[in-house]
Amino acid sequence: MAVSRRIIIDTDPGHDDAFALLLAWAAPEELEILGITTVAGNVPLDKTTYNALRLRDLAGAASPIYRGCSRPMVNDLVTAEYVHGESGLDGPNLPSPRRGVEAMHAIDFLVETLQSAADPVTVCLLGPMTNLAMALNKEPDIAAKIDQCVIMGGSFAAGGNVTPTAEFNVFVDPHAAHVVLTSGVPLVMMPLDVTHQAQALPHRVAPLHMLRTPVGVAVTEMLRFVERYDVAHKGFAGFPLHDPTVIAYLLEPGLFELRPGYVSVMLDAGPGHGMTVGRWEIDEGLPANGRVAFGLSADPYFELIAERLATF
Ligand code: RIB
Ligand code: CA
Repeated sequence: MAVSRRIIIDTDPGHDDAFALLLAWAAPEELEILGITTVAGNVPLDKTTYNALRLRDLAGAASPIYRGCSRPMVNDLVTAEYVHGESGLDGPNLPSPRRGVEAMHAIDFLVETLQSAADPVTVCLLGPMTNLAMALNKEPDIAAKIDQCVIMGGSFAAGGNVTPTAEFNVFVDPHAAHVVLTSGVPLVMMPLDVTHQAQALPHRVAPLHMLRTPVGVAVTEMLRFVERYDVAHKGFAGFPLHDPTVIAYLLEPGLFELRPGYVSVMLDAGPGHGMTVGRWEIDEGLPANGRVAFGLSADPYFELIAERLATF
């Protein structure tokens, strides 16, 4: 019996968020999902929330979903319809959700769930970190109840994907990223340096395309839509499955090579705004605030995704 880990997933679906959510819902033995919190990011909050609700039905899941922040802490919202389409999940024709969100706001869900947790909780951050940052500002003591934040975000040698220096999740809300990075919560980061190794190449996604299930058909249609931007504009051979790296790390950490470091984010830095900076020479004067993934066993990563999504 695998050890069950209690997690909260904060997300802005988003095609790669969809894969991450499905992977998490396909791991009930290993992951106890306390709740899903939605945030504005890839598309505005109404749409990321609507997509999370539709994906829950697709997975036949029951996780409670809490609507979060509709804009970053300081900056104006920047969205990514150019990648994910107007709906944020263009491609599959998923039906309208059968059930709605919980009444509680995501910030209050994070605070109340973490404060009352008997054991520490893992928080998975798949979008701009606004919800958790606001919860930490409201009740800083919740930091002690988070055993780790596993974050898809940031970039180091890989450069940016929304500006030449900044990765989208951090760029959209760099102030929230600063709050999380300086919270004292142990961090595991999945930057573009590792997620760009996770491109959905034909041989990697062939098993998914062979699934004749509603999930298999939906994810095939998601990939067919979302890869067009990165292939056409980034020269990639397939869409990088950024967000599922967070869940895959919880299921099979051996897929990743991590390096300890001190990661910070540049604020109000003009062209460097939202850029993440890592210091790897750690000493007692500057202890690490996290571990950053720079290596990935990519084919086994996709094998894990295909194996788990075949269970729906
Ligand atoms: O930079 C990639 C990240 O931004 C992913 O989480 C994607 O879903 C978008 O939110
Ligand atoms: Ca995301």
